[in-house]
Amino acid sequence: MYRKEFYVFDQDRPVSAVIRNYKENDFPELIRIQQESFPPPFSPDLWWNTEQLHNHVTLFPEGALCVEVDGEIAGSMTGLLVDFDFKHPEHTWEEITDNGYIRNHNPDGNTLYVVDISVRPSYRKLGLGKWLLLSMYDVVIHKGLERLLGGGRMPGYYKKANEMTAEQYLEAIVNGELKDPVITFLLRCGRIPVKVIADYLEDKESCNYGALMEWKNPFYTSKS
Ligand SMILES: CC(C)(COP(=O)(O)OP(=O)(O)OC[C@H]1O[C@@H](n2cnc3c(N)ncnc32)[C@H](O)[C@@H]1OP(=O)(O)O)[C@@H](O)C(=O)NCCC(=O)NCCS
Repeated sequence: MYRKEFYVFDQDRPVSAVIRNYKENDFPELIRIQQESFPPPFSPDLWWNTEQLHNHVTLFPEGALCVEVDGEIAGSMTGLLVDFDFKHPEHTWEEITDNGYIRNHNPDGNTLYVVDISVRPSYRKLGLGKWLLLSMYDVVIHKGLERLLGGGRMPGYYKKANEMTAEQYLEAIVNGELKDPVITFLLRCGRIPVKVIADYLEDKESCNYGALMEWKNPFYTSKS
């Protein structure tokens, strides 16, 4: 099981933080964080329910992380293992995460796939999202997996959709010409874009696009 204690900085003030696996008694708080983190126009149908969270902590508890700041849960990140084949990279969020229920979790999979990451709005920009990502990289290394992978929302795309394609939008972010609240965050956390996927997730702001982004385990050596 995972437990990391450290300090985050609120301006110049160190505040104690812990990243640990989440448990059954954290569920009400985690659901509240989802509601705050994914406000309309995001569909409430996509917020966690108790059954999904129960599956996370029973099927792959190592992939169920939350961050506490001064004893309060401020965010969470969840993953499952899949056997990912780069020859067939097209997928939807619903298919690859079993709609967030992760009943398709494959303990022998080569890839830790991100189901969700969210940080409570009042705790943003403290570096917590990055700490959660770095902690999931620890899990990838610990389990000897090839990579972490996930589809990033691109919630700033709707503002540019009549000017450029989703691919051009991603390219402009990578070139530093544009910033996106999620894609720029993921780039700053060390994730590398692989491709844009259409109809990835029902998400008005992203015009249903997702940017598949990878982090490769630097220690991984192929067994074949
Ligand atoms: C995306 C999210 C998890 C980021 O969490 P956070 O704790 O605020 O991010 P951090 O403070 O760890 O930021 C890490 C880096 O990303 C950058 N970053 C964070 N938010 C950003 C934004 N809106 N625009 C540009 N850069 C941003 C930070 O500047 C920081 O850069 P640095 O490490 O070089 O200083 C949070 O905004 C969130 O919960 N969003 C809503 C839910 C969501 O859409 N999740 C993604 C699902 S794919």
